[in-house]
Order: sequence, then structure tokens, then C-alpha cells
Amino acid sequence: MFPTHVFPETATADAAGRLLIGGCDVAALAQEYGTPLYIFDEDMLRNRCREFLNEFRSLYPNTDVVYACKAYVNPALARIFMEEGLGLDVVSGGELAIAQAVGYPSESVCFHGNNKGPQELQDAVRWGIGTVALDSFHEIELLEQIAGEAGTVQEVLVRVSPGVDAHTHAHTTTGILDSKFGFPIQTGQAEEAVLKVLRSPHLKLKGLHFHLGSPIFELEPYRMGLEVVLEFASRLREDGLDLQELSPGGGFAIAYTRDQEPPTIAQYAEAITGTLSDTCRSLGMDLPQLVIEPGRSITGPAGVALYRVGAVKDIPGVRKYISVDGGMGDNIRPALYEAAYEAVVPGKLNTEPTDLVTIAGKYCESGDVLVRDVKLPPVEADDIIAIPAAGAYCLSMASTYNLNPRPPIVLVKDGSARLIRRRESYQDMMLCDVV
Ligand code: LLP
Repeated sequence: MFPTHVFPETATADAAGRLLIGGCDVAALAQEYGTPLYIFDEDMLRNRCREFLNEFRSLYPNTDVVYACKAYVNPALARIFMEEGLGLDVVSGGELAIAQAVGYPSESVCFHGNNKGPQELQDAVRWGIGTVALDSFHEIELLEQIAGEAGTVQEVLVRVSPGVDAHTHAHTTTGILDSKFGFPIQTGQAEEAVLKVLRSPHLKLKGLHFHLGSPIFELEPYRMGLEVVLEFASRLREDGLDLQELSPGGGFAIAYTRDQEPPTIAQYAEAITGTLSDTCRSLGMDLPQLVIEPGRSITGPAGVALYRVGAVKDIPGVRKYISVDGGMGDNIRPALYEAAYEAVVPGKLNTEPTDLVTIAGKYCESGDVLVRDVKLPPVEADDIIAIPAAGAYCLSMASTYNLNPRPPIVLVKDGSARLIRRRESYQDMMLCDVV
């Protein structure tokens, strides 16, 4: 059997050992659209959105769910999030442009990032963006000026850094003191930032934001972060801080490998809403609106990457390399974070996985390895390899390294497939070059 819990919900194996997702034969999709190819399961995408909304709102009705576009977004996916009633968290003018292109309601979009540029902020303010999460003193002054020039009052959050270690990879932890993100509470800078915003006539402070890192496999960091931030908010009440909104960010983990068991959405919801309600009660504070920002946990499990095997190199007594036609250009995560993945051979699900192999990419780097030491059925050139849990932070971090075009994406549902991004062409890659 293949490790079903790391595949999209609709993934099944038919009697012949073929992998079906969204009712579509995965190997046939690889044939039709070519490889590398990314597949998104539409039912699962929608179900994840609904699960977040339902689980949080059943415990804490005043919750909004905002999708963190950095995990991956394009216009077709943005439309799905809009239909499902999610807001968007954007971190660049590019992500903002997608929200604008699909007609996202501007009030449900929040602008994050530690160094938003003047043009990006101007575009956002003029569009009427719902929230800007302020991350530096420089930005407070810049946004005050931009909002003033636009003759408007911009609603903002102050992003604080609670000094909580979420025990994730050093490159993806953000809530600790030594971080480029947020105003540290510990040093007094968060307080200074709140007071500065309260004195800014063109900024309206809605509340506070923090984000601890990603992925966070534990519940305790959320509880600790909420307590620290709520105590901070309660101290600043008499200075005029009215906490109408609080966001503990995203960071919800998913299973990449068969042995991983992250908390369920319901467990995250219980930990976050329980701590929020209890702490507010004990501090005598009104309950703020809760905003959560899942990225990985929505698109991650819904995406599967497909590759075609080329060279197979067996170094006796050392390692057997299976080389595929993608790699670090479409998925940098193993090279960057030592991220682990599962892999299966979609046409051979009935064959015993007896061969211990390493799946390498086609890029000119020794570090271009997608999966180290995975057991597969005997594999030969032309076989398809499927890597699950590939929907988040693969395509959004993709590059054209070695000038390999970035892959296409198909959305599958009820036995039919829809192309939502075509393969990049060689011409596309030269479009911006000036001769
Ligand atoms: N909100 C804020 C303010 C964030 O910075 C992030 C992620 C999220 C929400 C969404 O986190 P998620 O729910 O997706 O875990 N490239 C790394 C992950 C970087 C995450 C950056 N911020 C990776 O591939 O693991």
C-alpha cells in the first residue's frame, strides 16, 4: 500500500496498481501534460479551507481565515479561496496584483512582510487594502506618510515578536528575539511601536499580530505566544491600545512522511481558541477577533509533483541514484531545509517496494536530491515518480535555474483535469532579456 495519509484525500489505487487523484489516472496526466507536472486536488483544497473555517468558528465564532499566498497562489487558486470565504495574506506587490486581478474584496486582504517598499504600500493603500501588518519603525513612518498623502486612514496591526521558540528549522523560525520579523516585546520596542502608531493620525491600530515559524508540530508554542502577547496587550490598555483583532499567524504543520503525525486542525483550533478565551477572561479583556493565516496546511497536502525517471545509476555498495526530470528548480526545500518527502511509483502501487534508492534532480548541483533513501519498487527509465505533500513552498519558491522551465499545474476533480498554469517555454524565459 502507498502512504495514503500524505496524499490528497481523493487519492486511491485501482486494482491494477495505478494511482488515481481526483478520479484521474496520474500517469495518464503525466503523459498528457508532460513532466515535471504539479497536480492539485480541488476537493481537498476546498475541504481544507472549510475545515479551518468550521473548526475555528465552531469554538470561536469571531474567526477569520486568511490564506498565506507565499505557500503558493495563482489566479485560479485565488478564485477558489475567494469562493470559500478566505481572506488573503500577501507579502509583495506581485501577490497583491493577483488579489487585484481576480477581484478579491480589498478589505479581506492583509499585507505582511518585513520590508514592504513605498510603491507596494502606495498600491495597497490606494486599492483600499484591509490591513497592513507593520513590522518596523521605518514602515510606520512610511505608511503614515503614504496614507496621509492618499487622504485616508489605514487600518493596521503591529507585528510583535513574543520571544517564543517554535522548534522548527532555524531558517523558518520567526518568533524568537534574534529575528528580522516583528517588534520584540522583550526589548520594549513593541511597546514603543504601539505608542508610535497610536500617535499617527493616518493609521488606525486594530490589534496585534505574531507568527512563530513554520511548520510548528507542537501546540505549546501557540499557547505561550498567545499568553505573552495578551499580557502585553493588557499592559498597554491604559495607553490606549484597544485590541480588536489578534492574529497568531500560520505555521500549521502537515505530514510530509509516513511517520509524521502533526496536530489536526481541530487540535490547533482548540489550543488557540481555548488559550485566547481563558487568557482574555483572566486578564479581564474583551474577546478580540481572531485571524489565522494558514498557508502550507491548505495547499501543501493538496499538491502532488510528478516526474519522469531518466538515468538510473547504481554505485555498488554505496547508493542507487534515480534521476528525474525536475529537482531543486521546482522544489528547493530538500536542499534548503533538509526537508524529507515520500515518493511512490504511480503505475506500480501493487509491486513490493524492495529497492532502497535516492531520487536526484537534473540540476547541476550535488545537493540537488529530492528524496534520500526511499524504498521503491524496481524503477527503470520512463517510469513516473509521484512526490506527495508538494503543494506548498515548492512552486512558490521555484526558479529557472539552469534555465529549466517551471512546471505546469493541473487541477483535478471528479475525473477531469483542468490546466491552471501552462509550462513555461524557452521564449518565456527570455522575455525580459534585452538584446
Ligand atoms: N503568516 C505569516 C506572517 C508568515 O510569515 C507565514 C509564513 C504564514 C502566515 C504561513 O505559514 P504556513 O501556514 O504556511 O506555515 N519556505 C518555508 C516556509 C516559510 C514560511 C514563511 N512564513 C518552507 O518551505 O518550509
